[in-house]
Amino acid sequence: MERRARDDLVRVNPLRDALRLCDQTAATLRLLIDARPVDGQNLSMTSDDGTARDPIALLMLEHDLIEQVLSALERYADRVAAGAFERDDLALFVAFIQEFADARHHRKEEDILFTSMGDNGFPSEGGPIAVMLHEHEVGRSLATELARIAGSDGAWSGEVATRLVAVAREFAGLLRSHIAKENDVLYPMARSILPAPAMHEVALRCEAIEQDYARRGEGARLDELGADLARRYAA
Ligand SMILES: [Fe+2]
Repeated sequence: MERRARDDLVRVNPLRDALRLCDQTAATLRLLIDARPVDGQNLSMTSDDGTARDPIALLMLEHDLIEQVLSALERYADRVAAGAFERDDLALFVAFIQEFADARHHRKEEDILFTSMGDNGFPSEGGPIAVMLHEHEVGRSLATELARIAGSDGAWSGEVATRLVAVAREFAGLLRSHIAKENDVLYPMARSILPAPAMHEVALRCEAIEQDYARRGEGARLDELGADLARRYAA
């Protein structure tokens, strides 16, 4: 799975030179990961008050919920393809995508984890991080299109519904593949290259964001929004 995800990561980069560097970097760091035992030093990391969680585990938990909502989104698209008109639910999917997957989750990756990896010698331009950032941007563009459809007046024409279904399926496929690359390639790289103090700083900063969401009641609201969509559109 890891090899396939890495190959996929290399394949999707639109810049040829970046692709090559990405592959070389991934291969080199894969060797480093394989050579270093997982000692669990980051898994037990806590802040001074004992509340900061392992940030990689936290991000992977967020991936779990996002993947559940992606499956729900695909089932929603199937219903629209079959003729259903459920504008309110599309707005809920868009809210989860933009407020949870992007603002809450991608913010921790882009502003904290990826930045720390760059600060610790990992290539931030032309390598795997550049690929991840590019995919975040593609996802934002697709989510914006879904938001525009959700906010449009009146019943959807056949053309609009067809576009909605195509964009929803493209978004789900993109993000599912993206998550696999992060889980299987980029996050293990982060564990391998980040020194303990840097990972500790990442943990504290991620936890600060989560505590801010909790203080405003937004964390629980978004968690429940995702869980509700997954429940309502369960297989
Ligand atoms: Fe992610």
